[in-house]
Amino acid sequence: MKRLVILISGRGSNMQAVLEAKLNATVAAVISNNPAAKGLTVAHDAGVETRVVNHRDHADRTGFDRALADTIAAYDPDLIVLAGFMRILTREFIERFSGRIMNIHPSLLPAFPGLETHRRAIDEGVKLHGCTVHFVTPALDHGPIVIQAAVPVLPDDDEDRLAARVLEQEHAIYAQAIRWFLDGQLAIDGNRVKLSAACRYAGAMISPLPR
Ligand code: GRF
Repeated sequence: MKRLVILISGRGSNMQAVLEAKLNATVAAVISNNPAAKGLTVAHDAGVETRVVNHRDHADRTGFDRALADTIAAYDPDLIVLAGFMRILTREFIERFSGRIMNIHPSLLPAFPGLETHRRAIDEGVKLHGCTVHFVTPALDHGPIVIQAAVPVLPDDDEDRLAARVLEQEHAIYAQAIRWFLDGQLAIDGNRVKLSAACRYAGAMISPLPR
């Protein structure tokens, strides 16, 4: 059975969606940099081992990342799933687990990397917004894209309404991306992910316009 380690910083709804997705994998641990992350309780209640590696206990990013990497490595994961993990990882960390770290980002990358993606999407007047699952490389919010889901931006959207519409898609596509990884359907080729012919949708999901 393949093994996942999930990293969270807060609410943990993407983590919960992964836990509930009945994947053919063991979630070896959920680890948070934030001892107050709500998702830790959700994971614990679901019977998953939880750990805290608090970034505040470390003098710098390098020290924190080494402690985090050593904690993760003890679980020998096939894949590290970043699910609302709000720390920027060092190159050293990313190279140690190269090709084995996935992230979900709440925008259609490469548009809107970074924070406040929903507000920025509304401000820019885009008509389509969405979310992206990608492999993590040292370039923040870049890296080979596995799957994206698009949602319409509606005239009366505010940040919260749009975020909720995107989040629903996040929960669907993250489990799908991980399932493809576990089934050996993904190959990283430079900055692209090649999906095997068996992958339906070819990594693109478009949610219908509401009636
Ligand atoms: C999600 O929108 C995720 O894409 C972003 O942070 C949010 C985390 O939400 N990186 P949750 O903790 O998974 O509920």
